Amino acid sequence: MARLNVETYHTPVMLRECIEHLAVTQGRVFVDGTLGGGGHTSAMLEQISGDARIFAFDADEKAIEHCQIRFEDELLRGDASRLILVHDNFDTMASHISERGLHLNGVLLDLGVSSFQFDHHHRGFSFRHMAPLDMRFMPEGETAADILNIRTDQELAQIFRDYADETQAWRLAKAIVQRRHLAPFATTADLRDIVIQQIPPQHQPKTMARLFQALRIAVNRELQRLEDTLTSIIPLLAPGGRIVVMSYHSGEDRIVKNIFRSNGPTLTTITKKAVEASPHEVRDNPRARSARLRVAERRA
Ligand SMILES: C[S@@+](CC[C@H](N)C(=O)[O-])C[C@H]1O[C@@H](n2cnc3c(N)ncnc32)[C@H](O)[C@@H]1O
Repeated sequence: MARLNVETYHTPVMLRECIEHLAVTQGRVFVDGTLGGGGHTSAMLEQISGDARIFAFDADEKAIEHCQIRFEDELLRGDASRLILVHDNFDTMASHISERGLHLNGVLLDLGVSSFQFDHHHRGFSFRHMAPLDMRFMPEGETAADILNIRTDQELAQIFRDYADETQAWRLAKAIVQRRHLAPFATTADLRDIVIQQIPPQHQPKTMARLFQALRIAVNRELQRLEDTLTSIIPLLAPGGRIVVMSYHSGEDRIVKNIFRSNGPTLTTITKKAVEASPHEVRDNPRARSARLRVAERRA
């Protein structure tokens, strides 16, 4: 893969806040569950102590390839490398860590998609680009087109409602099921056409953004994986170990808040209210606008 400008790949959101909350100068074992362009990992590497390690996961092999180049010097140190890249879903994190007999001092999850994934047109994450309706982070399981072509109208409506709060969910789901009898869904343009036919022009961009978000969440089972991951890593946290999660829509944020709260005997919630990006950051990076940061710490 061609070397990509670091800024072009993805601008990390709330970088300073995440690094401060992870308290990286103190611990020995950290996980970045969502490596992406490596923005947060890079800042962690700059600050960890000499014998500390960062395990960095991404389900998308393009993110791993990008970071193999970005962190080439560190990785060339072999067994002495402070960075271990793992091409896998972050819900496998607990097994990777426990099979090495380790405990976690800090875990970061910066959920969703990177700018690179949005802007690289061939996987259909964005309604703005013509592409196959794929949307999988890893090339396994159902694609977005499969979901549109196979699920019932009730199931589709539920996906649009639950994963994107879409008020026209039922109308859109019925239109999709009617349309697929004529020809199966294959490209982003096929789904755009449905929105253009069903929704007044002034609402079309937001409706498209919601439908694409909902499908991506369904394809990658994002909410289930988030819940499984948080639940499985809590027992692996060292006393004082921290979980830092940045979510980008209400469904994710609710899961984080509820899991922190329901583990009250084990976890202290550090952020009583979700932290938001500063107006200054939002001005420079509009993708920071919807970010909500929550932090919990394992009790001693
Ligand atoms: C918002 S980006 C992270 C950006 C990163 N913090 C940075 O500074 O460049 C989210 C990344 O998480 C990855 N991702 C999303 N869900 C995942 C999962 N279940 N397992 C592993 N990686 C996942 C995506 O492929 C994407 O690269």
